[in-house]
This record gives sequence, C-alpha cells and structure tokens, in this order.
Amino acid sequence: MAGEKGTMAITTNRIKEINEKIEIQKKPFGTVDGRSVDLYTVSNINGMEMTVTNYGCIVTSLKVPDKNNIHKDVVLGYNDVKSYVDNNYYFGAAIGRCGNRIGGAKFTLEGKEYNVTKNEGPNSLHGGSKGFDKVVWDAEAFKNETGGGLEFSYVSKDGEEGFPGTLTLKITYTLTNNNEFRIDYFATTDKQTICNLTHHSYFNLNGEGNGDILGHKLMINGSRFTPVDSTLIPTGELKSVEGTPFNFLKSVEIGARIGSDDKQLKLAEGYDHNWVLDRPEGSKDLFLAATVIEPESGRCMDVLTREPGVQFYSGNFLDGTLIGKSGRVYKHRYGFCLETQAYPDSPNKPDFPTTVLKPGETYKTTTVYRFYNR
Ligand code: GLA
Repeated sequence: MAGEKGTMAITTNRIKEINEKIEIQKKPFGTVDGRSVDLYTVSNINGMEMTVTNYGCIVTSLKVPDKNNIHKDVVLGYNDVKSYVDNNYYFGAAIGRCGNRIGGAKFTLEGKEYNVTKNEGPNSLHGGSKGFDKVVWDAEAFKNETGGGLEFSYVSKDGEEGFPGTLTLKITYTLTNNNEFRIDYFATTDKQTICNLTHHSYFNLNGEGNGDILGHKLMINGSRFTPVDSTLIPTGELKSVEGTPFNFLKSVEIGARIGSDDKQLKLAEGYDHNWVLDRPEGSKDLFLAATVIEPESGRCMDVLTREPGVQFYSGNFLDGTLIGKSGRVYKHRYGFCLETQAYPDSPNKPDFPTTVLKPGETYKTTTVYRFYNR
C-alpha cells in the first residue's frame, strides 16, 4: 500500500511538473448575441499551439511544427469574430445537432414527423441555420495528465432548429503533449432526438493560405463509400471504392483523380462524400480513419475516431472570394476537411448506424487529429 501511495505521489508531482509547462492564455474576442466571447491559446510542452474561441467552439489557429521544426498555422480561419458570424463555411467549428445533411429536412421519431430548418435547398445541413457552430458556449480551461485544453458546455433547447428534446452538451478540446488535438463529445437528452456531432476544420498542412491541398497525400481506411444524389443525399448504397477515384486505401495525392470523368465527383464538384470506415464490427474503439501527408513540409496528420464514417471534403466551395486571417486569399481547394461522423441522412436511413439518442443514454464519442513529421 505504502508503495502504491509513493507511486501516486510521484505521478502527481510529475503531472504538476508537466502542467507547469503547459500554458493557457485568455483574451477577449468580441461580442456575439450580447455575450462576450474569448480566445484561448493553449500551448503544450513541445510548443505546439492551439487557439480556440467559445463562439461555435471554433479552432481559429493550430500551429504545428514541420520536419525542420518550423511552426505554421495549418487551419483556415479569420482574425475577427464578426467574419465567423457572417460567413457560412464552418471554419474550425463544432457541428450539430446533426452533422451533414438530412434529406428533405425531416425525419420521423416515435411515429412523429419533425421538420428541421432547410438551409441548403430542400435539405438541412450541419444542424440548420443556427447550428452549434453559431452559438456561444460556456468555456472552462483545464490541465490534466495528457495536456491542456477547454471544456465547452451548451444546452440546446427543445425545438431548436426543429429538433426535439433538450440536449445537454459537453465538448472537450485537449491539446496533448503528443501533439494531438483531441475532441471528446458528450450529450444527453430528455426526449428522443438525433445527435451526430462533428468537427469542421479546414486543414492545409503546408500552412493556411499557402496553395491548394491537391498535392497532399491521403489514405482513408474505408473500402466503401456512400454515393449521393444531385442534392448530396446518400442513395443508401454502400459502394465499393475499388476501381473508382474514391479508392484511398493506399495513400494517393488528393489531386491525382479529382478531375476524372466520374459521376460522383461531378455531382459534388470534387470530393464531398462519406466513407464507411473498415472498423471491426461493433467496435467503438479509436480507429485510424485517415492519414494525410504533406510531402514538402513533412507534416503528417492521422485522424482517429470512434465514429462509423468520415466525410472527406476537398474544399470545393472555396472560390477565391475569402481573405483569411493572414491576408491571403483562400482559393478553390485551399483546404480540406475530414469530418468524422455517422453517415449523412442517417435519420432517414434505417440501415445506417443509428443517430437516435434516447433519454437515459449518453452520446459519447472521440476524435483525435494527431500531428507528426516524416
Ligand atoms: C461539408 C459538406 C459540404 C459543405 C461543407 C461546408 O463538408 O458535406 O458539402 O457543406 O461541409 O461548406
């Protein structure tokens, strides 16, 4: 027993020592909906730095070392909160209550039809017109044995954007000392509802605003994907990637086949599809969904998740009209997203893994973006 106590004391001291090297700074970022919002900068023991705001849980900057230890900001974003409020690109944000699309902006739960906000043609995208990316969250900084970060909380009212049930949410962002950006999601409800949360950073591992992402090499651990119709709603088929430009089982440059004459690529004007991850049946363990390598800088990123799918979006809607935080223009395909999630339109697809959350259950999931060099 004494030995155990001794070990614990050392561990506690060690944690304290590590935590002294982690810095968390807070500064005001402006006002939204009459509430002041802040920017928090967390740096880990390796000097990697993450800046986030409690408006939409947005990651505004992520400074990652390259193979020569040169740190660059690898996510797209703005300098001021107003630009985040005014624009609909979902830069760096938490997405919910339902990530991606709900066909016809409606679904049925317990025999009752619910209509949610239509904000993309006939469909609902990313939680509606004022999704979790557009609300002010409460935030509290923390340090623990793995690193430092923020705990965000928000209560989404019954009926918000048309969704039933009061959803009580907690999302933690941890910048670990292994250079990981880790997201843990928790939610409970008082009525049956839909819950499918994701993260929407646009990455460019060569630095934000520094060219397009077509030369990045991508591996996706999914041998099937969900083809879509003309409004980007899955047809319901789980299609093999074999022999298609959707085969990323082996690492391939994003740009290698993006212009090919493929119906699915034409419909989405590039990649904007969900991959069915090859995770062991029934497992909710962290699974390597994707790896991205940027050959010039040597920066690499692994994406791990407990979710069944990942949306790979190649920044097709970026059109050169936006100027980013360092004054550079964000042109076509200057960033990509890897959004871990349940498959799009799951609320209307009984054969897809469920997105239904019931009272008494806890929605609990994790996604990790891990950075390293090679
Ligand atoms: C997701 C969607 C895309 C697009 C982006 C944001 O990736 O699937 O179609 O809406 O978000 O613009």
